[in-house]
Amino acid sequence: MPSRCHLLLPAAGSGRRMAAERPKQYLSVAGKTLLQHTLERLALLPLAEQITLVLAAGDPWWPEVAAGLPVALRRRLQCVDGGAERSASVLLGLEALQPDAQAADFVLVHDAVRPCVALEDIRRLMEMLEHEPAGGLLASPLRDTLKCVDPSGYVASTADRRGLWSAATPQMFRYGVLLEALRAAQRAGVMVTDEAQAVEQLGHPVRVVAGRADNIKVTFPEDLPLVERLLQGGADATANW
Ligand code: C5P
Repeated sequence: MPSRCHLLLPAAGSGRRMAAERPKQYLSVAGKTLLQHTLERLALLPLAEQITLVLAAGDPWWPEVAAGLPVALRRRLQCVDGGAERSASVLLGLEALQPDAQAADFVLVHDAVRPCVALEDIRRLMEMLEHEPAGGLLASPLRDTLKCVDPSGYVASTADRRGLWSAATPQMFRYGVLLEALRAAQRAGVMVTDEAQAVEQLGHPVRVVAGRADNIKVTFPEDLPLVERLLQGGADATANW
């Protein structure tokens, strides 16, 4: 693949919806934290030597996890302090790449709490986006009917799900495009919940690549046993690079 690709992992969230005693990236599943599972999987990609890891400032859980990582992986990490929102964390990570990254390089951004991503999906994402001017993301078509629910718990309406997809990560964009897009969103005070939204707002085309629906983002407590089963039986997810 001709363009260089940098790896950026935002892991500075507090995981409020999980209501656990620690941020969800530090919850243990199948003997390791979610963050370690995700890092070890991304480290299998034949991409950039360096992985930029965005952590909450003063994160008290990271040192113990770092100490348990294989030395070769630990050496590849560049740790950067994150911000209050995911988009601020990604922007800080991009700025830390600045001396080295060129505008046309790609940056692959992946949630620390999506440890089940299949390498085959990442390979396909990179292949499909190779000639894109801006970039794109992995996503999967919605399976369920969508209901808009009012505050008292009754259905207000049913949305038409045709053409609706669930956005996942990795999301992969040209470095220059993503930096400009996140800075523009920040200046305008617009809260974007993923990289694609910021890039869309600048009017760039954003390509969608179909990915597996089991690339789940750990969000609620009931996601943990599911992720555990996927990680334990996940040989096919690390094959086929
Ligand atoms: O909270 P959510 O599930 O959307 O988080 C997705 C990813 O973004 C997680 O890996 C989380 O640690 C990261 N994040 C971040 N900085 C924030 C909020 C979330 O790096 N301020």
